[in-house]
Amino acid sequence: MQVVIISGSHRLNSQSSKVAGYLAQAVTAADSAAEVVVHDLGVDPLPMWDMDVWNAPEKHEPHWGPLSRRLQAADAIIVVAPEWNGCAPPAVKNLFLFAGNNLLAHKAGLLVSVSGSRNGAYPIAELRASGYKNTRICYIPEHVIVRDVNQVLNPGEPASEDDRYLRERIDYAVKLLLAYGRALTTVRETPGLVDHARFPNGM
Ligand SMILES: Cc1cc2nc3c(=O)[nH]c(=O)nc-3n(C[C@H](O)[C@H](O)[C@H](O)COP(=O)(O)O)c2cc1C
Repeated sequence: MQVVIISGSHRLNSQSSKVAGYLAQAVTAADSAAEVVVHDLGVDPLPMWDMDVWNAPEKHEPHWGPLSRRLQAADAIIVVAPEWNGCAPPAVKNLFLFAGNNLLAHKAGLLVSVSGSRNGAYPIAELRASGYKNTRICYIPEHVIVRDVNQVLNPGEPASEDDRYLRERIDYAVKLLLAYGRALTTVRETPGLVDHARFPNGM
């Protein structure tokens, strides 16, 4: 089981990055054999998508090549999206443009949103409504909203009952993600089932 965790904040030392690190530990705790990679788009950003992604992909190899190969190998993906101006940040949407139609197709995805205050629902709603059509990422029904992020998921014991509940909720969501990740290999590996040659884009 290979899991890629995307930290979607553009900022260095972001809270999303902290959350991504916590999630990586949760994946390992749920399945010690799982291989987990965190890609922080604040530390290793992608440039804005341009036509060379299609026409001259070698130009993008230095920044996109390693990440695209990790995504290709992944069975499950976790997208950590901070709420910025009530949106998912452009880096996350840009990643889905780079990913195109095949890298994420029929793979389990867990959405995790992050808010410095009491919000966090908007990136979930936005990403559930957009971005999956051509990528065919399969977001599982469970998602996680991390509210008051500065107060939770910090090193050590839970700082509050909210923090304890959130950690239990993350453990639950991660276990479900891994189960969906295993189950969806059947879809990808069934001969003749996925036909992106005939139907390259979703409707
Ligand atoms: C440009 C920008 C816009 C933001 N807009 C929102 C928002 O609409 N709702 C919200 O809950 N938090 C908002 N925040 C605060 C983030 O939730 C907060 O920075 C949190 O730590 C997650 O972002 P990070 O991963 O970059 O640290 C915004 C932050 C930035 C930098």
